[in-house]
Amino acid sequence: MGLYDRLTGRPGDDGDAEGEGAGAPSTMLPPPPASNGSSNGQPSGNGLVAPQAPIPSPTTNSDDDYLSDLRRRTHLALVKAMGPALYDPSTSTLELERQVRSKLGEVIAADSTPLSQTDRQKLIETTIDDILGYGPIEPLLNDRTVTEVMCNGPDAVYIEREGKLVLTDTKFLDDGHLRRTIEKIVGEVGRRIDESSPYVDARLPDGSRVNAVIPPVSLDGPMLTIRKFSPEAYGGQDLVNFGTWSPKAANFLAACVSGKTNLLVSGGTGAGKTTTLNVLSSYIPLEERIVTIEDAAELQLGQPHVVRMEYRPPNIEGRGEVTIRDLVRNSLRMRPDRIVVGEVRGGEALDMLQAMNTGHDGSISTIHANSPRDALSRLETMVLMAGVDLPVRAIREQIAAGVQFIAHQSRFRDGSRKITRVSEITGMEGDVITMQDIFEFDWKAGTDEATGKARGKLEPTGIRPSITDHLRDLGVQVSVSWFAPDDEMAVR
Ligand SMILES: Nc1ncnc2c1ncn2[C@@H]1O[C@H](COP(=O)(O)OP(=O)(O)OP(=O)(O)O)[C@@H](O)[C@H]1O
Ligand SMILES: [Mg+2]
Repeated sequence: MGLYDRLTGRPGDDGDAEGEGAGAPSTMLPPPPASNGSSNGQPSGNGLVAPQAPIPSPTTNSDDDYLSDLRRRTHLALVKAMGPALYDPSTSTLELERQVRSKLGEVIAADSTPLSQTDRQKLIETTIDDILGYGPIEPLLNDRTVTEVMCNGPDAVYIEREGKLVLTDTKFLDDGHLRRTIEKIVGEVGRRIDESSPYVDARLPDGSRVNAVIPPVSLDGPMLTIRKFSPEAYGGQDLVNFGTWSPKAANFLAACVSGKTNLLVSGGTGAGKTTTLNVLSSYIPLEERIVTIEDAAELQLGQPHVVRMEYRPPNIEGRGEVTIRDLVRNSLRMRPDRIVVGEVRGGEALDMLQAMNTGHDGSISTIHANSPRDALSRLETMVLMAGVDLPVRAIREQIAAGVQFIAHQSRFRDGSRKITRVSEITGMEGDVITMQDIFEFDWKAGTDEATGKARGKLEPTGIRPSITDHLRDLGVQVSVSWFAPDDEMAVR
């Protein structure tokens, strides 16, 4: 099942059959897909959808008032009755559930509220979820169409579904309830959160990424953000089906990866950079030794020879931190064929550029930036963050010689993620790094009024990248038709 299906919970839409690729060679991807003919004019600033009426969630929020009062009372009475036993790590989950169920029976019996059998059962299950699971967000975490869950305090739980942010009517009982859920989540992965270290970044055993912030740093109660992990890694064709890239761009970028080109995926927060990085990494030949370095391990590579490393935060005394930069430096001694860095965001940029310029070709990474040009200036700033006193011109020369391509991705207003530009770095003119666009999103196509989606797609600019001959020398198949503007292809 592809990304589209997962996000929408229904089979993929083949879109219109305007396929651009009748003539496009398909060395790695199946024949062209289907431009779904949609897309909208501009990427949104933040992808936010104005919260209208909260969507009902499959939680207990539709309970009558008396039931939610009862739920609150039961929950608090149970927490009190169980005491520290609730958080005793030596108790197995099964045993804890047995104890909770038996105590819960007593707590409900002690309450004088009359309950139907159905309400009683519902009360038991939601309280068990609250105590043993992740509380009211448990159904959202189990819902495959939800890709992100964000709790802004106990009363405002947002989700991302089909790429859009929506307010749900899910609520925690109070700050304490959300705080306990956060402590449970981070505690399970051996991390802690308290007033002295009021934020935490962690990865759940299932791969989901969690960030929690509590007062005094967060001003409106505890905050919890969970980016759910998709158990199936996306492939190039998934991104084609989803309109993220075109078969031509996909084939070309895949060829760049096979041919050990250094490339960066740039974009804003949540633009889908890591997802695209994962797909690009899947084109690394099987026989290569790949080292991955990430803040929180998100990449899922299918190759057999992958060495994974992850950032380690400092301990409670502020010691023991292992930075991305330390890991990049260390990786150079691990005889890597490829270094895949989840995101460059600091001094590691310098080490990566040096590696790229000294024979460690084929590095891929992501970078937070608003355009390929912006990515270059950010890279420059990051090199300066390494604390080395290099003249700006020398840094630019390293960038121009090290990085060959930047693919820029954006989140659109309609929730879709698309690559909007693929730029080749061609060298320097004076003090300026020169670039040329090989693929560019067709903004002029405008927006479909009915669906609100952009109509344009990622199209070749007609410029043949300078890297083509180099790739061919390496034996990587490159077809000139990938770079022909689509209308020219239609004529053929
Ligand atoms: N090509 C895509 N099409 C549609 N949705 C996507 C696509 N790629 C990723 N997504 C969705 O966007 C969310 C964010 O993806 P991803 O983690 O790759 O973004 P990112 O740019 O790396 O984010 P961050 O800046 O937080 O690191 C995912 O949960 C997924 O639901
Ligand atoms: Mg990312």
